[in-house]
Amino acid sequence: MTRVRIEVDGSPVEGLAGQSIAALLLATGRTSWRRTRTGRPRGVFCGIGTCFDCVVTVNGLRDVRACQRRAADGDLVELQEDDRA
Ligand code: FES
Repeated sequence: MTRVRIEVDGSPVEGLAGQSIAALLLATGRTSWRRTRTGRPRGVFCGIGTCFDCVVTVNGLRDVRACQRRAADGDLVELQEDDRA
């Protein structure tokens, strides 16, 4: 299996080619990576691209659904702590 290596808020994360960014985040033990305006944690909810709870910034592009985006080697992922999604 081909491995991919991405960077999440400056930390390296490895996974397998074909995995979503959400899958890589979950594999690191994260269950949430964003907070609502009221401070409630958000991560994967629907897992099918409908709810937008899982959004992250990828290579400078905001509001990418982590459950729908396959991790590509070298991706720079930033967690979105705000609720502007
Ligand atoms: S978890 Fe719902 S859009 Fe990604």
